[in-house]
Amino acid sequence: MSKKFGIIGFGHLGKAFAHALLNLDISKEEIVICARSIQTLSLAEKEFGLTATDKIHNVIDLCDNLIISLKRDTFIELPPIKVEGKNVISLMAGVRISELNEKLYGAKEVFRVMPTLSISRGDGIIGYTHTKNAEWIDLFSGMGYAFETEESDIEKVTAYSACGLGFAAYLIHSMISAGIALGFDEKTSKEIAESNFRTAMSFSDYSKTISEVATKGGVTEAGIQYMNDNHVNEHILQSVKQAYRKATKNQGGHNEQITEYLR
Ligand SMILES: NC(=O)c1ccc[n+]([C@@H]2O[C@H](COP(=O)([O-])OP(=O)(O)OC[C@H]3O[C@@H](n4cnc5c(N)ncnc54)[C@H](OP(=O)(O)O)[C@@H]3O)[C@@H](O)[C@H]2O)c1
Repeated sequence: MSKKFGIIGFGHLGKAFAHALLNLDISKEEIVICARSIQTLSLAEKEFGLTATDKIHNVIDLCDNLIISLKRDTFIELPPIKVEGKNVISLMAGVRISELNEKLYGAKEVFRVMPTLSISRGDGIIGYTHTKNAEWIDLFSGMGYAFETEESDIEKVTAYSACGLGFAAYLIHSMISAGIALGFDEKTSKEIAESNFRTAMSFSDYSKTISEVATKGGVTEAGIQYMNDNHVNEHILQSVKQAYRKATKNQGGHNEQITEYLR
């Protein structure tokens, strides 16, 4: 893909996106960063070797593709900006295409992308709304498992996929903490917890693994019974729903479909 990429917002996701582009052989000269603080600007220049500015207009002038990775609140506070002929690719949760078009008006194309942070290593999950540009789809496929989704469904991708990476880390972290609480040192706890998560994944049939390990009247069964009695799976579902609730908060009142999912 020719033409420059302007990444506006260089926090966790902005950096991951820059890594992803660089991994896909986009040259450093083709990427421009917009951030706010001196520390972040200097990191973009010194550690990434990229051009950086704190002026959003500079990025708009220089780049054909504007990748927005600001927090929603920061984006909403921006004044309306003309982006005639540019492609706007929003990575932001909870900002609708209609809001993007209002704020960044005159764009050639506007679409939304919801990636996991692991795009930085080429094994991300990327949900994107429709784009006419096949080159973007190729780029997303190079960042991991990419799939098109309706805008009405993209916050499900936010809650289940983008947030899901954090939820997965939370569960593993909790298991490591349990090992430490039993008296294993941190290194051993991490080794055991990670190995068990990896193995459970490689076995893949999770119900079968549960029933094979939790034999009738055995020790595992007691632990699983405790989880069932305390509705652990329900708590996990409610955590995902809570993220979805937050991501859809600004949809102008929950529509019927969203309300149904949140029941
Ligand atoms: N983190 C994730 O896993 C993830 C996944 C999917 C989607 N998202 C979405 O990505 C967006 C960013 O999330 P994040 O986790 O990367 O947040 P973050 O780490 O807090 O980064 C926000 C960035 O915005 C910059 N910024 C703030 N005000 C600015 C301004 N006026 N002009 C230019 N830059 C400005 C900050 O610059 P300074 O560093 O200079 O302060 C910072 O680099 C959010 O909308 C979120 O919903 C995040």
